[in-house]
Parts: sequence; structure tokens; C-alpha cells
Amino acid sequence: MANDTGLRFMLLGLLALAASLFFGVLSAFKFLYPEFLEALPFHKLRPLHVSLAVSWIFLTAIGGVYYYLPNLLGLALFSIRAARWHFWIFLVTGLAILGAYLLGQFGGREYWEFPPVLALPIFLSWILFAVNYFNTVIQRRSAWPVYFWMWGTGIVFFLLTFAESYLWLFPYFRENMARELAVQWKSYGSLVGSWNMLVYGTAIFVMEKISGNEAMAHSKMAFGLFFLGLFNLMFGWAHHTYPVPFAEWVRNFAYFVSMTELFILGKIIWDWRGSLSDYQKHRFRRPYRFLFAADIWVFINLVLALIISVPAFNLFTHGTHVIVAHTMGTTIGINTMILLGSIYFVLEQRDTDSALQTVSGMADHGYWLANGSLLIFFLALLVAGLIKGTYSGGSFGDMMASIEPFLLIFAVAGIGLMMGLWMVLLPALRRIYSLVFSVTARNPMRVENGQKTNL
Ligand code: HEM
Repeated sequence: MANDTGLRFMLLGLLALAASLFFGVLSAFKFLYPEFLEALPFHKLRPLHVSLAVSWIFLTAIGGVYYYLPNLLGLALFSIRAARWHFWIFLVTGLAILGAYLLGQFGGREYWEFPPVLALPIFLSWILFAVNYFNTVIQRRSAWPVYFWMWGTGIVFFLLTFAESYLWLFPYFRENMARELAVQWKSYGSLVGSWNMLVYGTAIFVMEKISGNEAMAHSKMAFGLFFLGLFNLMFGWAHHTYPVPFAEWVRNFAYFVSMTELFILGKIIWDWRGSLSDYQKHRFRRPYRFLFAADIWVFINLVLALIISVPAFNLFTHGTHVIVAHTMGTTIGINTMILLGSIYFVLEQRDTDSALQTVSGMADHGYWLANGSLLIFFLALLVAGLIKGTYSGGSFGDMMASIEPFLLIFAVAGIGLMMGLWMVLLPALRRIYSLVFSVTARNPMRVENGQKTNL
């Protein structure tokens, strides 16, 4: 059985991103003009957008793990059949969730708004993934690189926090509001930590392969990032639980850990960039650029995180568009840029024909359009959030009128971001599609110390 499961996950991830962007733009206009497109109200569009965006992150990170282990790390998958099952369960459940949203069948909690019964196949498919992953990496007898630890931790903690996010099904939690809120937001905070582990592991893997420097994945700095991420996964949720009353120092400490984690990630990418030769930068031009963009967004988000963690600012910004800027700034600027880097790394290291090159101009223009639009998008959200947070004038309607121009800028920049990312993902989509569905295009290449060799 051909082992192209990793590519299939990536293909599905790209489709999820394309659709998420479309629903994101519709949501932004719907928020401004509620009478537009009456069949799709904001309460349907938002979960469609957010669930597809979160699926893009998970699908592409999972695709990388399934692709890299057998193709670039020389570890045969423990069970290709289990990986295939994982893929099909994800696909069928995903379609059922989209159908439920479109039909207005909700019943879950924020972020998992679909009927709770659909959580069961997701949970089961992750057990398959966990068993497959650990039985595969256990073949590696020498010291594990940091990304093995990161991927493994991300997988285990996803299972734990996903289960936790459904504790509200038990009356003990559901019937006490403070208890339900505390558990709910705690689990979401940790869930973000679990996907960050998968994504940061992918970033370090790609950096190691481009530079050919295996020492970086065993370095103290990389393990420092892992342990901070682990700590953040377990305790960083404290700054996600605003409505829950608890000691201020706990929240501040959680902020401190999250920011240190971001800082170390930024520093690792920065040092890696400095260590590359011109040949390496050119040979893997697109993944290099995406990681460069992720690095810049790490520092931009770090500045925003510093500002919103100051209690005086937090008072104004909490519950405003500033927080949406923070969420989308990190999920687009950092996670999405790293994952696009991973996809283009796969393509550039195995491409022997001109399939990717002929459309590469489009991806390069898309890169600049996406990043430029994201900056405007991010700033517009910040200004809208600050005006809302500090507004002391008349009615709610007056306040909304004063932020409307910025929300319009946000929505228009959203179109630019969508177009830019579509231009990036379309060539990748076509190429991966041809790799998965055309036998002649299967020609995996292995990267050793920045050089490629046939497998
Ligand atoms: C890679 C692309 C994107 C990702 C990963 C992403 C991710 C997210 C996430 C995680 C949220 C939830 C935020 C929260 O609860 O705080 C969100 C909300 C939202 N996104 Fe996106 N997004 C993307 C692109 C876009 C685009 C292009 C637009 C178009 C303008 C957009 C518009 C929105 C809107 C309107 C909301 C709801 C905000 C609210 O409830 O106030 N997103 N997005």
C-alpha cells in the first residue's frame, strides 16, 4: 500500500485553509452588514471559519508527522492502515461537522460548537494516531531530537485536553457556572498549547533539514523551548481564564511563561537564519521565507502580548478586537507561516520537474500580498479594539459607529489576505494533488545536509 497519507493530510489541510479564508471574509462583512447574505448568519459563519482554521493547523501538522517519519527520518510507519483510517475518520467527521453547522445543528461549546457526539470519532482517531506515532518513533534507538518530544507531547496533550473540554457533559461541571467556565477555558488554553507543540516541532524539523545541522534539534535552547512549552501547556491556561476569579500572580506568571516561550522560538529561528549559507537559502527559498515571516510575526505578537498583559491595559482590551488581533496574529502570522513553510519544504525537496516552478511566481506574489494585508488587518483590529475598550461616550450604537471604519479596513484587508494566501496555496494544492493521484509523479527525494538524493 503506497504511503502517501502525509500528503493527503496536507491536501485536506490546504482545502480547509482555502475554505476557512472564504468564510472568514464573509464573517467580517456579515458583522458589519448583518442584512447581507441572510441565509448565512454570523453565528453559522464564525464556527465554520474558526473550525476550518483550526483543522488547517492540525491537518497540516499531522500530515508533516506522517510524511517526515518514513520519508525523511527513515522510520517506517508502524501501521499505514491505521494512518489511512485516521485520515478517513477525520474527513468524514469533518464533513459531518460542516453539515451540522450549515443546518444550524449546534449543541457544543465555543470552538467545538458541533453536536458533542461528533467528538467521539475525533477522539478515537487521535488514539490511532498516538499508537501509530509512538510505535514508530520507538524504533529510533539513539537520543531523540527535540521534535520527537514535541510531536509526542502535542499528541498526548491533545487527547487529554480534548477529553477535558467535554467535562461539561457531566452535571457536576455543567450545573455550576464557575466550575464549567474554569474547566472550559482551561482546556482551550492547553489545547492551543498542544497544537503549538506540533507546529513548533515541525518548525525545528524543517530548520534542521534545511541547515543540515542536526545539533540544533538536540541543543539546550531547543529543549528549553520544549520544557517551557510543556509548562505552558499545563499552566499557561491561567491567562485564558479571565472570567474566573483567582490570584493575580498566577495569571501574571502564566503570561510570563507564554512570552518567554515566544521569545525563545523567535531567537531559535533568528539564530538559524544567521547560520545558513546563501546556497541553503536559495535552495529552499520558499520555506526559508515563510520561516522568516513567522519570525517577524513572533516579535510583533510578543510586543502585543507584553502590552495586553499589563493589568491596566488588560482592563481595556479584554473582550475586544485586540484579543481577536492576538488570536489571529498568532494563528496566521506564526502557525500558518510555519505550516506553509513545511508544505513548501516538502515540495521543494522532492521536486524534480518544473511543475512547481512554472507557478512559483504566483506563490511569491501571494506571499507579499498575504503578509502586507495581514499587517493592515492586524493594525485595524487593534485600533478597533482600543477604541471600543476606552470608549466612554454615549450608546453602544455610537461606539459601534466609531469603530466601523476600522472594521471595514479589517474586512477589506481580509480580502487581500485571502487572495494572497490563495495564491500561495493553489500551486501547492495542484502539486500535492498530482503527487497523490498520479503514479508517475511519485518520486520522493531525501534531504541530507542540505543536499538531495533519490530515495
Ligand atoms: C490563516 C487564516 C486565518 C486563521 C488561522 C484565522 C483564525 C481565527 C481564529 C482562531 C479566530 C477565533 C478568534 C477568537 O476567538 O478570539 C478567528 C475569528 C475570526 N476571523 Fe479569522 N483566521 C484567518 C483568516 C481570516 C480572514 C482572512 C478573515 C477576513 C476578514 C477573518 C475573519 C475573522 C472574523 C470576522 C472572526 C470573528 C471575530 C469575532 O468573533 O469577533 N479571519 N479567526
